[in-house]
Order: sequence, then structure tokens, then C-alpha cells
Amino acid sequence: MIKLIKPYISFDEVKDEFEGIFESAWFTKGKFVEEFREEIKSYTGAKHAYLTTSATTALTMALKLFDIKAGDEVIVSDFSFPASSNVIEDLGATPVFVDVSLDTFNMLPEELESKITEKTKAVMFVDALGNPTGIHEIKKICQKHNLPLIEDGACAMGSSELGVRCGSIADVTCFSFHPRKLLTTGEGGAVTFNNDDYVDFFDIKLNHGAKVENGKFEFVDYGYNYRLSELQSVMGIKQVQKLDSIVKSRNSIRDEYIKELTPLGYTPQSISKDVVYNVQSLVFVVPKDINRDELVKYLRENGIETTLGTYCLSGTSYYKNRYNDVQPNAQYLEENTITFPCYDGVDIEYIVDKVRNYSAR
Ligand SMILES: Cc1ncc(COP(=O)(O)O)c(C=O)c1O
Repeated sequence: MIKLIKPYISFDEVKDEFEGIFESAWFTKGKFVEEFREEIKSYTGAKHAYLTTSATTALTMALKLFDIKAGDEVIVSDFSFPASSNVIEDLGATPVFVDVSLDTFNMLPEELESKITEKTKAVMFVDALGNPTGIHEIKKICQKHNLPLIEDGACAMGSSELGVRCGSIADVTCFSFHPRKLLTTGEGGAVTFNNDDYVDFFDIKLNHGAKVENGKFEFVDYGYNYRLSELQSVMGIKQVQKLDSIVKSRNSIRDEYIKELTPLGYTPQSISKDVVYNVQSLVFVVPKDINRDELVKYLRENGIETTLGTYCLSGTSYYKNRYNDVQPNAQYLEENTITFPCYDGVDIEYIVDKVRNYSAR
């Protein structure tokens, strides 16, 4: 089977550090966590970085930072993984779904403007499949309306727009280190931002509500444990150090697919020329006469693992039943996009050959 993903990390790379951690029995809150934080800051250009257990917990913390609660509305891109809206829903607030571009798959600025009300308390821009195209334009709209911009950059570590890396564009950016991402720690995530005023909140909330005063814990608030471990941080450090070469290699694989698949009528996700794209997921819109689900099935029967692009949040059963506000472009993309395997050594020729055979049937 040609698998959809292949991690960019091997046991050999982490073995020595893992042995050291086991010998010292220092598994949490140690030097590797600090080093990984520093690496993330220096890679993204963000002034501050905190590690979390996932993008989901990172996003929850970002919403809590802005005091999102019942009665509030948070505007969110509709083409994403349900975690983006789940975290809003979980706080009792209302996710307001904004439709996306059929080209970039990202939030449409004019749609965003039309959905802002006096209940809107924040905007969550999702870098669809790692693509930040348009985020600076969205940022301008947020600034005009005095709304915080939370970037769901779960997929976007390694991407940038206008020369600014994801992680230092929005007010707060949240990353995921799930195995589907370029950089994986098994599970994991991070929050980055530039504003010094947010530091206390994250220091305290991510430490069970404790402030450390004169070496003593003072529990000044309630809080959480969403920490990443030392072992996970070692994995992260190893990958962030080679992220640029990973991004480069994925882009050349993407170019090869584009060369082969566009003549067959497949359209790649459109990336602005101002963007460096990490190619977190290599997604194409299938031709009009192709049934995506049938194609995925056919490819699986031929030993190739593919999947849908991602989800139309407003069209999932839960959100459709609750809000009945399905966004047409996002729905179209959920039904008509396909993700192809994208990593060094993947047999593009074989995959394209099977796609061609399917189209010719
Ligand atoms: C856009 C987006 N947001 C959030 C998440 C949730 O990430 P995690 O699994 O790290 O919680 C994902 C996961 O795939 C995602 O793609």
C-alpha cells in the first residue's frame, strides 16, 4: 500500500536524547521543552511560544485568552477540520461559518465582512491544508473592526505570506503536531504570539493556575495541564531543524503532480505568489465528471491511500442540525477534493497512471 503520510522522523534521530531522558527520569518541564519553544520562536519569528498537547487545546486557550464565552460569536473558515469550530462550541459561543474561495480554499474577505455583528468577538482564520493565502487581507479587516485574529495554523508550520511566517502574522497562532502534519510529536501543538501582554495568561493558565513566586507555587487562578513532554519535544526539535528542506522537497513533489494531473482536468489548490506553501496536504479538485469517493475507492483497490481534502464544517451532521447554515463552496470542496500521498520517494508515476486509468474507464 502506498500510504498517505510518512513521518519525517526516525527512532535513530532521537535515540540518544531519549536514553538521556530515561536515565535522568526527567520527563516533563525540562531543557528539551525549553529548547523546542526557542526553536519555534526562532523559526516562526514569533516573540513568544508555548507548547500544548494539541492544536485543539492551543485553540481553546487562544479563545479563553480573548474571554470568549456563551453569547459571543466567533467567525470561522468553513473548510477545515471540525476541531476549529468545536472549540468555539465547547465554550458555549456560536461559530459563525464563513464560506471559502474555491481556488485557495480560504476564508473569503467579503463574506467575513458580511458576517460581523456586535456579538462578534474574534475571527478564526484557518490556513486550509497549510495555505495562508489571504491572511494579511483578513488581518486588515480584523484591525478595521477591532477584532482579534486567531490563526488556526494547525497545518501551517513552515508556510508564510508576504515574507512573514505563520506564527507571527495573527494575534495568536495555533499549530498542530499530529502525525498528519509535517512536524509531528505524536500528538502535540503550540501557541505563538508577539504581544507581551498575553504572557501572564499563558504562564499561569498552562501551569494549573499557578504563578511561581520566590520559588513557591501561588495558585492565583484556575488552570490546565496541556503540556508537551520532554520526549515529544526532542522529536519536535529534530524536525523543526529540517523543516525548510522538507518544505522544499514537498514543493517539488507538488510540482510534479501538477504537471501530470492538470492535463487530466485536476485543479490544484491555488497558492498566492506571495506565499511559501508547506504543502501540508497535497489537494486537488477532481474534474466535474469524476466521482471523488469512487476514485478514492478505486485507488485503494490499487494499493494507493488517498482521502478527501477536508470538511465543510457547517455541513457536518452536528453543525447542520444545530445551525442549518451550510456554505456552498465549502460543501463543494468537501465533496470534490482529493489528497494525494506527498513525500520523498512516493511513486508519482504509478499513482498518476492509476488516476489516468480511472478517468479513461
Ligand atoms: C485545521 C485544523 N485545526 C485543528 C486541528 C486539530 O489538531 P489537533 O489534532 O492537534 O488537535 C486539525 C487537525 O487535523 C486541523 O487540520
